[in-house]
Amino acid sequence: MRKNIRIGVLISGSGTNLQAIMNACESGKIPGSIVFIGSDTSHAAGLKRGKSHNIPTFVVDYPSIIRNFKKAPQQVTLPDDFDLYEIFSKQTLFPADADDATVKAFFIPRVIAEAAILDKMKNYSIDLLVLAGFMRNLTPYFIDRVNTVPGHPKIMNIHPALLPAFPGNDGYGDTFRYGSKVGGCTVHFVDYGEDTGPIIGQKAYTISEDDTLESIREKGLKLEWSLYPECVKLFAEGRLKTVRKSYALKNGKKMHRTVVKILPSPED
Ligand code: GAR
Repeated sequence: MRKNIRIGVLISGSGTNLQAIMNACESGKIPGSIVFIGSDTSHAAGLKRGKSHNIPTFVVDYPSIIRNFKKAPQQVTLPDDFDLYEIFSKQTLFPADADDATVKAFFIPRVIAEAAILDKMKNYSIDLLVLAGFMRNLTPYFIDRVNTVPGHPKIMNIHPALLPAFPGNDGYGDTFRYGSKVGGCTVHFVDYGEDTGPIIGQKAYTISEDDTLESIREKGLKLEWSLYPECVKLFAEGRLKTVRKSYALKNGKKMHRTVVKILPSPED
């Protein structure tokens, strides 16, 4: 019999995915429980959902941390264990020849915010961290401090598009404006890139002439609410394994990619 997992959740907005996961935990569909909900803003409506289920919440106010850094970059206090050159060497959000000042201005305030999140998270031991509409890129500083066992990622994200198409912060908008005939949502493990991590699950809907951005968002969200709990359940059951694959391409080059293998259920 597997243990019940302890899940931390980070949100930025309305928290409908959080609600779907909370419901699945409470109904026993997911063998686990949510132990905290963190937000990057006190305005996230999802915080109320957590409070009404008696789940502890916290806020790390990204907008004010970013504002303070812009105002007085020399005066900010960096975490003791922060190494800018490590971030530079690991990050994949900016190209290698990007201007150092731009990369620093992006990462430093985020690392400060992440150190504050890690500090709040110290109060809870978790098996899985779920990003449920958390609209901030995580840096290698944070990711490496959560993923402490090599080959066992434990940060999951949901993205409102069929990755690798349309990464970024407007998946439904990008899918609609492109004129796609199929859209969807993707749950993946988080790596150092933007929505580039190993894919765990995807669901798709069709887009017709009558659809609007609103109607595809509705179709997509409905799918998100079933996909995310299913993926968290697979994690809780110990059925997600990451595997490094290598392929020889037609041009003679080799391609490597970490993918997720879904192990059969013991009942299958
Ligand atoms: C969802 O559509 C989720 O896929 C998206 O934000 C929305 C959050 O809704 N996430 C991203 O775009 C992440 N890049 P919710 O707060 O109601 O769950």
